[in-house]
Amino acid sequence: MADSSKPKEEHVHDVFQQIAPNYDRMNNIISFNRHKAWRKFAMRKMAVSPGDSAIDLCCGTCDWTLSLAEASKNGPITGLDFSQAMLDVGRRKIAVDPYGDQITLIQGNAMELPFADNSFDYATIGFGLRNVPDLVQVLKEMRRVVKPGGMVVCLEVSKPTAQPFKGLYYFYFDRILPVFGKVFAKSYEQYKWLPESLKPFPGRKELAQTFRDVGLKQVEDYPLTGGVAALHIGIKEK
Ligand SMILES: C[S@@+](CC[C@H](N)C(=O)[O-])C[C@H]1O[C@@H](n2cnc3c(N)ncnc32)[C@H](O)[C@@H]1O
Repeated sequence: MADSSKPKEEHVHDVFQQIAPNYDRMNNIISFNRHKAWRKFAMRKMAVSPGDSAIDLCCGTCDWTLSLAEASKNGPITGLDFSQAMLDVGRRKIAVDPYGDQITLIQGNAMELPFADNSFDYATIGFGLRNVPDLVQVLKEMRRVVKPGGMVVCLEVSKPTAQPFKGLYYFYFDRILPVFGKVFAKSYEQYKWLPESLKPFPGRKELAQTFRDVGLKQVEDYPLTGGVAALHIGIKEK
């Protein structure tokens, strides 16, 4: 069982090791399939060109990694995650995907990327930034490894502000979602982590400011589905 008294990084690692086999199915259920539309919106804003390279941090079961490979056609795409169990699920999807050959998966920590400066056209992180011990450190790492003119992109759950939607959302998130985790994946404790991890996470405008604070330029932020999720984009100066 995941133990929330452990240091955050260890706790998060335990959570994803345990939920990996059910992760994709649960993602569809708890987001009412919205995660697919959010990723499509992100891909439209990113406008990846054939041959572009990307690193997908906290790639998990590799949905975004695969979208990046499809968009870049023949560009090199790397997925990085610290959970072997999540990577194993991703690896099975990559093996049967027509764009899978472009992808390299690495087990590693988003806090300390094993890549040289200026290596990629894009650095993405999908529903991962909320899970890391120090989001500023991870954003600095993303900025470091993208090329001048490259793009740092974060898709993450966020904090709706308009009532009554906000009240309904928090009721769902805090009370119903962990029950879904218990019913559909026998993982109440693990799914309680999702609302817990959102509490200390910055709101949409605050996160946009953090993008600027780490030196990213032309920062854009988009609320998705009434602010339930948000897309943030920043460019590394040329
Ligand atoms: C909510 S899942 C997101 C997976 C995928 N990006 C998606 O959109 O479905 C978060 C992922 O972040 C990974 N993760 C959390 N902290 C990490 C860290 N410090 N370094 C590498 N991976 C991490 C977890 O193992 C998990 O696979």
